[in-house]
Amino acid sequence: MLTKTFGAAVQGIDATLITIEVNSSRGCMFSIVGLPDSAVKESYQRILSALQVNGYKLPTTSIVVNMAPADIRKEGSAYDLPLAIGILMATELIHTDRADRYLVMGELSLDGTLQPIKGALPMAIRARELGFEGIIVPRQNAREAAVVNQLLVYGAENLSQVVRFFTQESSTLEPTVVDTRAEFYARQNLFDTDFADVKGQENVKRAVEVAAAGGHNIILVGAPGSGKSMLAKRIPSILPPLSLGESLETTKIHSVAGKLPAGSGLITKRPFRDPHHTISSVAMTGGGSFPQPGEISLSHNGVLFLDELPEFSRSVLEVLRQPLEDRKISISRVRSNVEYPAGFMLVASMNPCPCGYYNHPTKACVCTPAQVQRYLHRISGPLLDRIDLQIEVVPVPFEKISDARAGESSETIRRRVMQARAIQAKRYESYKGIYCNAQMNSKLLALYARPGAKGLALLKHAMQRLNLSARAYDRILKVSRTIADLEGSEQLQSHHLAEAIGYRNLDREDWASR
Ligand SMILES: Nc1ncnc2c1ncn2[C@@H]1O[C@H](COP(=O)(O)OP(=O)(O)OP(=O)(O)O)[C@@H](O)[C@H]1O
Ligand SMILES: [Mg+2]
Repeated sequence: MLTKTFGAAVQGIDATLITIEVNSSRGCMFSIVGLPDSAVKESYQRILSALQVNGYKLPTTSIVVNMAPADIRKEGSAYDLPLAIGILMATELIHTDRADRYLVMGELSLDGTLQPIKGALPMAIRARELGFEGIIVPRQNAREAAVVNQLLVYGAENLSQVVRFFTQESSTLEPTVVDTRAEFYARQNLFDTDFADVKGQENVKRAVEVAAAGGHNIILVGAPGSGKSMLAKRIPSILPPLSLGESLETTKIHSVAGKLPAGSGLITKRPFRDPHHTISSVAMTGGGSFPQPGEISLSHNGVLFLDELPEFSRSVLEVLRQPLEDRKISISRVRSNVEYPAGFMLVASMNPCPCGYYNHPTKACVCTPAQVQRYLHRISGPLLDRIDLQIEVVPVPFEKISDARAGESSETIRRRVMQARAIQAKRYESYKGIYCNAQMNSKLLALYARPGAKGLALLKHAMQRLNLSARAYDRILKVSRTIADLEGSEQLQSHHLAEAIGYRNLDREDWASR
């Protein structure tokens, strides 16, 4: 008998329908065609065991499985469940006319228990688009799939529950229902850290606010314990809240990477990712033999924090350059390319020198100027070029740390950030793919960030006096634009430029000789 069940393959962060045909006929062999990888081929052994443990005895027949379309590689063990159902139907151990109304995915243990899968959310999205009545996934993935409303989502514990669902009217499986909008608005912006916890550091907080307001990348340079990590962690709380669309997109990426905790639904806060500096290039960008989103995609719509930037391997830092421009990453594979979104705000931190105390107010630095220079040069110029703000973080004195008064709250700062972002959204309305000042190209800079005669004179003087390198020039203009937007000023004024010049600490050619 020939039967059909439906599953899905994930490509990038979207799912494609996979039709699984199973035919059983006389003979005694098993074959599977349609570009399955070895994990899919091995599934037969798992399925046999799961069926046996659950009391199904397969008759001696030949079973041929075809997975279509044939040009998409079928990877991993998540096809176990639709294969098992197909085999049970083809061998007439079960009878149902409902299997073609559901998309079914899940990995089987030898005893028939279902194991969680990756990509349940994009699969559910595709199931709804294609007009399926519902989707059946392992219980751990049910809430994630139920983010898709107007689709019946069933989370199953094991194979026999799924069999009963298809063969008996009175099934014990209950659909998982999530009111996505209500959940989104109820859980939006619940951060457990706040800028109010950071004492003093007014100038750094201001720089961080400017960075958030214009979507600029920023590097914090300071001694150990000066509060760099503390500041970085709080940046998502001053960025504009995620829109529902961004929230869905972010959740999809984490779903595909298998990084959503079991039972969790929508991601409602901007992500903050802080990979360790020993990370490999593949883990950073994504890819690998089972392609997966990397850290740059997991931080999409949020913050990628690279603590101790010079400690990262050069190759890892190099691969960041392209996605920093394109806000996505393409990974080539033997048969196809996959693409993952990678639009993140880069926040980096570093010590000013190997010992960490260069320029420290109280501790003496033991490094020679040459060592300080060499340390800085571990970050390549082209990467530094993509970081608009460079700010020194000087530890706050004890009196300020012990000050009981709370600083300004994240909510207050965020309100200003959102106002400045609204101005930018309007300005770049007609420019596709551009929505904040950090993305301005030279044409837009000439249009919207032109200093007046006074500002130009100031800029020229500062560049000469501080020995600023030429590449600092455009960055200063971009950041000035954001500072002016925070003030609601259409014109770039001298004090906007002066403040932006102050955010180029590392550019100064005399950085290591002060
Ligand atoms: N401005 C501040 N207000 C309140 N607490 C602070 C401040 N600066 C530092 N701290 C305290 O010092 C601790 C160390 O700060 P943090 O870990 O952010 O420093 P760091 O610059 O990242 O250091 P390292 O270079 O060692 O990673 C914080 O957890 C916090 O308790
Ligand atoms: Mg730190």
